[in-house]
Amino acid sequence: MTPTVTSSRRTLQPVSIPTSSFPYNPGSLLSIQNLSMEDLNRVLRRADELESQDPLERARILAKRRVALLFYESSTRTRTSFELAAKALGADTTLVSNLSSSIEKGESLKDTGLTLKALGAEAIILRHNSSGAPWLLEQYTHLPVLNAGDGMHEHPTQALLDLRTILQKLRPGVGEVNDKTLAGVTVTITGDILHSRVARSNMLLLPRLGAKVVLCGPKELLPELAANAGPGIGIERDFEAALKQSQVMMMLRIQAERLSGLQLDLEEYKKAYQLTGDRLHALAPEAVVLHPGPIIRGLELTAGVADGPQSAILQQVTNGVAIRMAVVERALTAKNDGGRA
Ligand code: CP
Repeated sequence: MTPTVTSSRRTLQPVSIPTSSFPYNPGSLLSIQNLSMEDLNRVLRRADELESQDPLERARILAKRRVALLFYESSTRTRTSFELAAKALGADTTLVSNLSSSIEKGESLKDTGLTLKALGAEAIILRHNSSGAPWLLEQYTHLPVLNAGDGMHEHPTQALLDLRTILQKLRPGVGEVNDKTLAGVTVTITGDILHSRVARSNMLLLPRLGAKVVLCGPKELLPELAANAGPGIGIERDFEAALKQSQVMMMLRIQAERLSGLQLDLEEYKKAYQLTGDRLHALAPEAVVLHPGPIIRGLELTAGVADGPQSAILQQVTNGVAIRMAVVERALTAKNDGGRA
């Protein structure tokens, strides 16, 4: 089946990307749905092991293997942590960005991917502004492709590092995870849900471990149909009501670059949805505060909350390296059964 690049603009319905026959390459991570519970446990376990391993020993795991980072959108956390992760395992990395490469001259995703493969890349880490682009790149190159964020669709490694952070905070020392590991935990995701690949990947992951996911935001950023997004997922428009029932508050940035004409009164938004110290202390004094970044201080949350004791935002960033070591290792060591058409 041919994958189609589609935009999920103005909808929270699944984009029409066929997932049944993808990924072909067992090392790819295109969607968080590609990981079974067993895979999930393996990634979490390897993240722990690799993080605590002697750096010199660790650098032999992928010594001189070649990993390409192909970024069509700006990134600080994802790009840097993938690069540090691959290098920590001994791999050689190269970065191709849309702003400083022949992509600027009009070279297509297909030709860029095939060029990287001809240069010796054994895996490609792709961030792209179009939903579905990682599926196409995998089909063109047959290489393991790691989705580093595709449009408004998915950001699987962000969901994995968010999960690792939640487990460290709420289930320290937990061994294997299963469908009950996060039973009794409510995670409220607040803000620009409509445009958020982070929200989508977390909505696909956290309920599988038993968590309840509450979506919170105004109609412009959270359409009513999201109430049917899946089991374990609901909507609460009243931010303070959501806060009261939450063990985890995941705040999202308003993605101005994706609003495409949508008007939002930011002062009204802040009044209704900003996570302030007063609200947090009064309604959820034990809740863990998460944010995928970049944060906009004074908009979705105050500087005091971002820097406060309940914030695990920098812990999320640190966890990005461990999780990405595990998925880069998986990409380059997974056995391909040769079943590709
Ligand atoms: N969380 C995240 O994807 O951040 P970057 O855009 O900086 O990579």
